[in-house]
Amino acid sequence: MELGDALPAIRKPVPAAAGRAWIERLAASECPALTTRRKRREEQTGASHDPIVWVEAQGANVVDADGNRYVDLTSGFGAAFVGHRHPEVVAAVKRQADRLLHALGDLHPSDMKIELLERLCALAPWPQARAMLSLSGADAVTAALKTAVMATGKTGVVAFEGSYHGLTYGPLAVSGYAERFREPFQAQLQSDVHFAAWPGGDVSLDAALGTLPEDWNGIGAVIVEPIQGRAGVRLPPPGFLGALERSCKKSDALLIVDEIFTGLGRCGAWWRSVGDGITPDVICVGKALGGGLPVSACLGSEAVMQAWGTADREAIHTGTFYGDPLGSAAALATLELIEREQLVRRAADRGEVFAAALSAERIPGVLEVRHAGMMLGLQLERPTQALTVTRALLEHGYLVLPAGAKADILQLAPPVTVSETQLAGFIASLRDVLGAR
Ligand SMILES: Cc1ncc(COP(=O)(O)O)c(C=O)c1O
Repeated sequence: MELGDALPAIRKPVPAAAGRAWIERLAASECPALTTRRKRREEQTGASHDPIVWVEAQGANVVDADGNRYVDLTSGFGAAFVGHRHPEVVAAVKRQADRLLHALGDLHPSDMKIELLERLCALAPWPQARAMLSLSGADAVTAALKTAVMATGKTGVVAFEGSYHGLTYGPLAVSGYAERFREPFQAQLQSDVHFAAWPGGDVSLDAALGTLPEDWNGIGAVIVEPIQGRAGVRLPPPGFLGALERSCKKSDALLIVDEIFTGLGRCGAWWRSVGDGITPDVICVGKALGGGLPVSACLGSEAVMQAWGTADREAIHTGTFYGDPLGSAAALATLELIEREQLVRRAADRGEVFAAALSAERIPGVLEVRHAGMMLGLQLERPTQALTVTRALLEHGYLVLPAGAKADILQLAPPVTVSETQLAGFIASLRDVLGAR
């Protein structure tokens, strides 16, 4: 089987000598926060949490420094939706690298940047749209939060417990995921953020809506993930996004939908929120957009984005590398692929089959299988269990992520190109791992 569609091949310890040598260099040079996290996880679980060091990837496969081959069911945090190093994305990047690597962004742009803007506007759910390009998800969220201030003149934001929008200051202030992420920086964060409850589990839709602010004066935006990803693939009940849309309309606030994880087909629709029957005012997109390169965007309707177009506001939000030619070429190739190969439909179909197979297996220890397209959350029994299970799965050759504030959920976001054999192999390994505990 070719690299891309292959099953795992773990021939050496995870990691072995070559990987270990890299990790020592990493520990000596990287910000110690990450080495400390590994140590903490080792204490929590009694198992090694040393990383593998990636040296090659193709499709759903990753190869580490020791020559072990894995199946990546994370798509590298969701970025490799079309698979790692898709040949068409690589070809577009190579063509672009032979022609133009960098331009003068917002002053004298590249042709590729303009093409990408047009393409994104055509994909947006409004008849007339405008887009702002950037590099990371957090950049796109920053642009969206600023857009709301521009368009409404109001700085207050409603966000949700468990939400994750990125860790730079603007997005961090509206990320309810974990108090400890915000706590050291609290004094430097925007203070007029109201965190409302997320519906699901013990919290009914009405109870969650009951935690929205009573007084909407001063609130310029509601920011929401259509499905909370990092919090553990938490799907809101039907009617939740619609209720937020109505509250925003009533109060002249913008509804910002963060589709950075869920968008571009991952959940079986171009936009999860639009598939749910709402029309946001602003959409954030990232991760999958660059096909593996850092590209993100904030999209808004023409009417909303006009707020940026007055003489005192021109060009006050820009960046050296925003809309760079290389990233734009990669994003254009990625969008072309998603469209031509009908990957949105494929994500819907394959996700359905995968989730059904997982549920049918009734694997002891998996309490629930949640999913939308190729975004899945497997609810485990105990807090921190996902840490042990992700490690054991890595040693079987499958990369998945722990999620949820209690680390009791396995998050899966496979490339849409993952093969059925690879998914079946994962199910068998999960059964082994959970059976062994
Ligand atoms: C929903 C959502 N928004 C924003 C972000 C932040 O994106 P980035 O890490 O590219 O800044 C993430 C990252 O996981 C995300 O899942």
